[in-house]
Amino acid sequence: MTSHDIRESFLDFFRSRGHAIVPSAPVIPAEDPTLLFTNAGMNQFKDVFLGTGKRPYARAADSQKCIRVSGKHNDLEEVGRDTYHHTFFEMLGNWSFGDYYKEEAIAWAWELLTREWGLDPSRLYATVFDTDDEAAAIWRKQRGMDERRILRFAKKDNFWEMGETGPCGPCSEIHIDMTPDASGAPLVNAGDPRVMEIWNLVFIQYNRDERGNLSPLPARHVDTGMGFERITAVLQEKNSNYDTDLFMPIIDGIAAMAGRRYHRSADSPPDVAMRVIADHARMLTISIADGGMPSNEGRGYVIRRILRRASRFGRNLGLHEPFLHLVVPLVTDVLGGQYPEISARREHCGNIIRGEEESFNVTLDRGLEIFGSVAGRLGRSTEFPAGEAFKLYDTFGFPFDLTRLIAAEKGLSVDEARFAALMERQKAQSRSGRSGRETGQATGGSLLYTSETARRIEAPADDRKSEFTGYDQLDGTAAVRAADRNVVVVEATPFYAESGGQVGDSGILSGSGQSFVVVDTQRSGDMIVHLLDRVCGLRPGETVELRVDGDRRAETASNHTATHLVHEALRRVLGEQLHQQGSLVAPDRLRFDFNHHEKIPPDKIRAIENIVNEKIALRIPVHALNDPKEWLTIGEAKRRYPNVKMFFGEKYGHRVRIVEIDPAFSVELCGGTHSRITSALGFFKIVSESGISSGVRRIEAVTGAGFREYIEAGIAETGILDAQLETLLREGEELARQLGAAASPSGQPPGPAPIAPGDISIGAADL
Ligand code: SER
Repeated sequence: MTSHDIRESFLDFFRSRGHAIVPSAPVIPAEDPTLLFTNAGMNQFKDVFLGTGKRPYARAADSQKCIRVSGKHNDLEEVGRDTYHHTFFEMLGNWSFGDYYKEEAIAWAWELLTREWGLDPSRLYATVFDTDDEAAAIWRKQRGMDERRILRFAKKDNFWEMGETGPCGPCSEIHIDMTPDASGAPLVNAGDPRVMEIWNLVFIQYNRDERGNLSPLPARHVDTGMGFERITAVLQEKNSNYDTDLFMPIIDGIAAMAGRRYHRSADSPPDVAMRVIADHARMLTISIADGGMPSNEGRGYVIRRILRRASRFGRNLGLHEPFLHLVVPLVTDVLGGQYPEISARREHCGNIIRGEEESFNVTLDRGLEIFGSVAGRLGRSTEFPAGEAFKLYDTFGFPFDLTRLIAAEKGLSVDEARFAALMERQKAQSRSGRSGRETGQATGGSLLYTSETARRIEAPADDRKSEFTGYDQLDGTAAVRAADRNVVVVEATPFYAESGGQVGDSGILSGSGQSFVVVDTQRSGDMIVHLLDRVCGLRPGETVELRVDGDRRAETASNHTATHLVHEALRRVLGEQLHQQGSLVAPDRLRFDFNHHEKIPPDKIRAIENIVNEKIALRIPVHALNDPKEWLTIGEAKRRYPNVKMFFGEKYGHRVRIVEIDPAFSVELCGGTHSRITSALGFFKIVSESGISSGVRRIEAVTGAGFREYIEAGIAETGILDAQLETLLREGEELARQLGAAASPSGQPPGPAPIAPGDISIGAADL
């Protein structure tokens, strides 16, 4: 059977047992900030298990794209070295949502494996959770199952949890014994590739909350997951997943690029390298196709590390030029039939990977050189100094896991605890270095707080929290909580503190018979800090009047609303994989950074502007939940607004605020201030588009007053050009007259006709 046939026969089996066949969710779980990557088929049904979401079916089955490289489930170190762990893998799963339970789940798994696919029952073990007599009894009833092959294990092996929090429950796994004499019973759950778990049946009954407590769910569910690459190896009678038709075309392609042969050796370095590259290329293609991007934090850093790791393994094969991007088509040839989204984004994936490979190549060369020279000086020591590993990381951007990997290849160890301590020390130093400077700046006599230092003011007590009242009001009266030189914190303020890319408000603060200009507003922890133009001498308890500069706020709000509109417009024109990478929302302009690999052509810029301007013309009300009492939990937000945008890596509070501009167009989680109606924006214009790093582009745009200024500046520039043109013309005419007068007493120019205005073209160099 080909891998394609195996996938299909799994889905057919469950289809004929009343299951809806659903598509795989993306591997980037944009809607679940608790998860870095989709790590199991059940992730997309988390809300159903928790009782907060519903589906139009009670049974489902699919083939889910999964990534396990971090967090609770992480197989990275085994990848390529053993036969059956991967960073990316497919999981075949069937689910019951409060419908069937253990009886059917076990019976069907057994039927599919032993009757449909003909596996020998005497080679299968069933494990159950220590106290799960019910599951053990059901297993005993299965035809061909021997009591001695039902094994009990504790929580570590037989209680499945998707992460630190979420739905969970006892599970029952099926393991296959591939020892020559079927003597593998002691090897179950022992990490031996000869006895391998192939299918996990989880009986979801509980939710684990943030405090670690388990609470029973409203209903009991079934969540099963079978390792597709593993079952393919079993059914294709291969000793390794890498020998199946899922990997061999990719490995053969890599071997051809390197001008080598693949020998299926367990430990020859080139063969390990080819397997690692094949594995990593699958992970990179899938994750980038689903909207992931290499970057310096969170999920993006995992993608970057995997890419760098694969690049480094390429060096083991003598591949010095970027090559990984050439593996992308090999991956899409194998997986594109099942997951059309990766074929559609093949070019995008290749471009992103190529850019990243090119920029890392330089770092890699330097890092390898430094590593080599340090290693060369070690003498008899077998320890690569943690300090040098730290320097490689800190100064040269060389990931620690790469140093550890290269060290291991050379038989060297690295003291990980020491490395971690150095990282910690550096963090602490930069923290205290900052506060030391601040103290000097803020208490050194005449120096004032700046926006930068105001952000780091220490809150002396919990009650230094300020309430923000400025979604609906621009002025107010409040008691001073704390004041120091030119900064003031009050109990409740309409001033918006810089956050989420939106700049802080400015305005007037008056008290004690004096008025101060609020030049900026910053946040420090839960405090909103007003930064005044001078030392104020205010005291805690005094009452002050606060007035936000309304025009500036309105202009900023226009640009914030425009940011949401352009975000969606960009996605519609350039593709759904596009995500916000950063933004600046100021009164005079907005800046929006996003993942995209190439320059945006003028016609697409126009199309993006047109979409935003249409929304402006439609006078759409902007609905923002301004009262914090109306804010929602992430779960509620997702339920009420199915297409709400969420950004991974962003820390959302316990309750989130929604800003909706036409439910079918833009719904975002956002704490910023917005226009009340889109027509307030006047007009939207993109004024620049540029690349800021590999795969990340930036647009700058203007609305309303900023747009007027932009046009006026343009007109003024045209005026200057006109004036310059006129001067040039006059000078030209004068010159011609002089030349003519010199050459001919009649005053007629001898040569070419006089210069007419239309004949002069002015190049940039003339101006
Ligand atoms: N969620 C379980 C697992 O990932 C079964 O699908 O193993």
